[in-house]
Amino acid sequence: MVNHDVKDLALSQEGKRRIAWADGDMPVMRKIRERFEQEKPLAGKKMSACLHITAETANLARTLQAGGAELVLVASNPLSTQDDVAASLVNDYKIAVFAKKGEDNKTYYDHIHAAIKHNPSITMDDGADLISTLHEEYPDKCSSVVCSLEETTTGVIRLRAMAKDNALKIPVFAVNDAETKYLFDNRYGTGQSTVDGIIRATDFLVAGKKVVVAGYGWCGKGFSMRMKGMGGNVIITEVNPIRALEAAMDGFSVMPMIEAAKIGDLFCTLTGDINVLRKEHFEVMKDGAIIANSGHFNVEINIEDLAKMAQDKTIGVRNYVDQYTMPDGRRLYLLAEGRLINLAAAEGHPASVMDMSFATQALTAEYALKHELKPGVYDVPQEIEDWISYTKLETMGITIDQLTEEQKAYLASWDMGT
Ligand SMILES: NC(=O)c1ccc[n+]([C@@H]2O[C@H](COP(=O)([O-])OP(=O)(O)OC[C@H]3O[C@@H](n4cnc5c(N)ncnc54)[C@H](O)[C@@H]3O)[C@@H](O)[C@H]2O)c1
Repeated sequence: MVNHDVKDLALSQEGKRRIAWADGDMPVMRKIRERFEQEKPLAGKKMSACLHITAETANLARTLQAGGAELVLVASNPLSTQDDVAASLVNDYKIAVFAKKGEDNKTYYDHIHAAIKHNPSITMDDGADLISTLHEEYPDKCSSVVCSLEETTTGVIRLRAMAKDNALKIPVFAVNDAETKYLFDNRYGTGQSTVDGIIRATDFLVAGKKVVVAGYGWCGKGFSMRMKGMGGNVIITEVNPIRALEAAMDGFSVMPMIEAAKIGDLFCTLTGDINVLRKEHFEVMKDGAIIANSGHFNVEINIEDLAKMAQDKTIGVRNYVDQYTMPDGRRLYLLAEGRLINLAAAEGHPASVMDMSFATQALTAEYALKHELKPGVYDVPQEIEDWISYTKLETMGITIDQLTEEQKAYLASWDMGT
């Protein structure tokens, strides 16, 4: 039996079914896995991945294993682990997993330490927790990591800040910033799965409701588009004037949060920022307002403010719903303790979209091993993005036009045809 710390190995049968179901919608990943099985590009490489432990991640793990990697998987969020999937990875696929849904902070970091003690030469992160712990607590191990890959916006922001301070000791690929990732995963994946999480947690009817979306980035755009499609009156709050203008021209109301707070029925933060919803906003919210977050960390909603202001807190009025009753009798409902609602209360992104994100991860890991890189933050190579896009189109039965030689010459020239 491989090393593990999972909730219950008896759950593995259900996990195996879910992994297989997700695999059915991950044709790009399957193609990579078939090639990796033949070529073994990761043979003997130790890898540690700190990702949401979902059925889609399981299929990435299977692909890395097929490529010859010795892999340890740990959770990148205490609430996002699918325990049956974790059990199946250990039982059926012999992949070491340290992750339990609902693990406390200490266990979460114990698991990250286990990933580092595996002595990886490649790491993967979703939020940069593994790489930050490595730099802070195991600085002498950094030199044996040839490359790291970062999956999400918040992680890339942290890594760029480390690079700016000359603190980054490892080459890192900003997988989040690949077009094959953020244009699809953040927009369509987070968009749809955040709706799914909120509805599963609350049974909320969107039609006719005022839905306040903080942040009109890729995730915010995807979520707003879907909420509008379901009949919600969507209000955007932003701090970036271009994004605010874009939201206004996309047909949404735009206003400061302090105004939106008075009228919203549902609030969802998708900013990657801190304290976007705080005391001054909770003070003016309506009775029954629902508050959720789908940004990476549970810092977007100031839960401490909410707890201090409330005269009563009832945990679990429904699964993933805590009720905070204010001294004036207003009830505010916080979902999933302010953690990523799409992963806590639903299943995260659909497999079809993770197919592209994780294909980007697998191919970039292979690329990194073939190149000697200095510490710094790197973009995913264009050839990887192109291969994934063409392959995804092919699996969807879509073909596109090719540039003619004449068109190529025209597009490369400055004096033709004007
Ligand atoms: N739930 C998921 O599964 C999932 C998936 C992908 C990304 N994420 C996370 O979601 C967050 C957003 O990602 P993104 O790719 O949309 O980022 P982004 O940078 O494209 O967008 C964030 C937007 O929030 C705005 N913003 C920042 N502070 C704000 C504030 N105080 N009030 C209002 N708006 C503010 C920014 O101006 C920006 O337009 C990140 O934390 C990212 O890691 C979550």
